[in-house]
Amino acid sequence: MTTPHKDKIFCALDTPDLDRALELADTLKGSVGGLKAGLEFYAAQGPAGVMRVSECGLPLFLDLKLHDIPNTVAAAVRALKPLNPALLTIHTAGGPAMMQAAAAAAKDWDNPPLLLGVTVMTSLDQEDLKKTGVYATPGDQVEKLTGLALECGLGGVVCSPFEIARLRKEFGPGLTLVVAGIRPEGAGKGDQKRVMTPKQASDLGADFLVIGRPITGAPDPAAAAREIAASLAQD
Ligand code: C5P
Repeated sequence: MTTPHKDKIFCALDTPDLDRALELADTLKGSVGGLKAGLEFYAAQGPAGVMRVSECGLPLFLDLKLHDIPNTVAAAVRALKPLNPALLTIHTAGGPAMMQAAAAAAKDWDNPPLLLGVTVMTSLDQEDLKKTGVYATPGDQVEKLTGLALECGLGGVVCSPFEIARLRKEFGPGLTLVVAGIRPEGAGKGDQKRVMTPKQASDLGADFLVIGRPITGAPDPAAAAREIAASLAQD
């Protein structure tokens, strides 16, 4: 049995393979709230592949992390209109004019996507940031870029579970938080170093949970997704 909590779950289709993505999309219909296609799938299968996945009817999170000059990013957002993703990512490091241009371009869609900012990649630590000339702590930088994203018309950010509490406290309930780095109790961490369970992340205030391998790597992906949804419903 599925619960409405399933709508919080976006399964990451981290594959270059169209048949595999379509198989997952078909299997997961009714057990998750949506699907996330990222750069790997887009680079391998292009807009046509994304369209095919969309045909399953689930909301699509297109995680392309756009980052270029404002004119180019706005043009890319306009070009993505036929794919009609529900969620689309933009790098906040592209600056205010780029984010504003993206937000303006998205407004022209019939069903505008929720534009999400990517702040500091969780693969970067303090030392890596310093090497790029950023001397703020990762947490301070995430907060600063999130504030800027909201000022520029974005609807939320993608963050790690460990940033939820701080961002909710600072920016309140109006900001959409899409959280990755989620592992159900007892699941392998894979290459994720710091993880929380779906229930912990949801209770802290995550709006959507991006979950890949714990679902896609399970013998029965739909059952794994339903189990995660059920865990969200528990007191
Ligand atoms: O398989 P797993 O659940 O680790 O997949 C997580 C998904 O979320 C991947 O698509 C990954 O690119 C994305 N992601 C992440 N950590 C972030 C941001 C995005 O794992 N900080």
